[in-house]
Amino acid sequence: MKLALAVLVSGRGTNLQAVLDAVADGRLSAVISGVVCDRRGALALERAAKAGVPTALVCMEDYPSRKEWEVALADAVEALEPRPDLVVLAGFMRILSPAFLERFGGQVINIHPSLLPAFPGLDAQKQALDRGVKFSGCTVHYVDAGCDTGPIIGQRVVPVLPDDDVDSLSERILEQEHELLVEVLSGFAARWEEEHKE
Ligand code: GAR
Repeated sequence: MKLALAVLVSGRGTNLQAVLDAVADGRLSAVISGVVCDRRGALALERAAKAGVPTALVCMEDYPSRKEWEVALADAVEALEPRPDLVVLAGFMRILSPAFLERFGGQVINIHPSLLPAFPGLDAQKQALDRGVKFSGCTVHYVDAGCDTGPIIGQRVVPVLPDDDVDSLSERILEQEHELLVEVLSGFAARWEEEHKE
């Protein structure tokens, strides 16, 4: 039995693409049950559709409150077939409450473009440049009730070069994000298959 994933996205979806590609060419033994997005017109939706993966759009502005939006988001994830075993936040730009996390038994992970616990939250690459660090990187971690504070699963280190601007540093980190995310998911998938042998 393969690990079933839901991927939550907000934007261009290059991390999603890395996961789609890894599943398509057999490097990642998992099923992508669906992609759930909170922004209309996100490029990530096109990437999913092109790969034949079901999509759902759940935008906060369509709901009377944040709480109702989040319930609808969780409903959309739960409705996917097969029911996701792991929820992957891949460039999903909203914070989720403990109520959401509990519905998925805490099996929610996020990718973030810094070496956490340094530079949580928005504009992590700019924060790293402003602070003058010589190394930054990316982190995959479990999501908890805080902002980028959950237990760390994997990290990659990336040098910050003297001439870097936000774009060049982001690009260098992004290449490592794609590899790290697939590597971490492969670990989850291998453990899942081991634990669910028929
Ligand atoms: C990635 O750099 C990801 O780490 C970051 O947004 C980008 C999404 O790119 N996520 C966060 O900053 C979450 N706090 P993508 O849409 O091309 O995968």
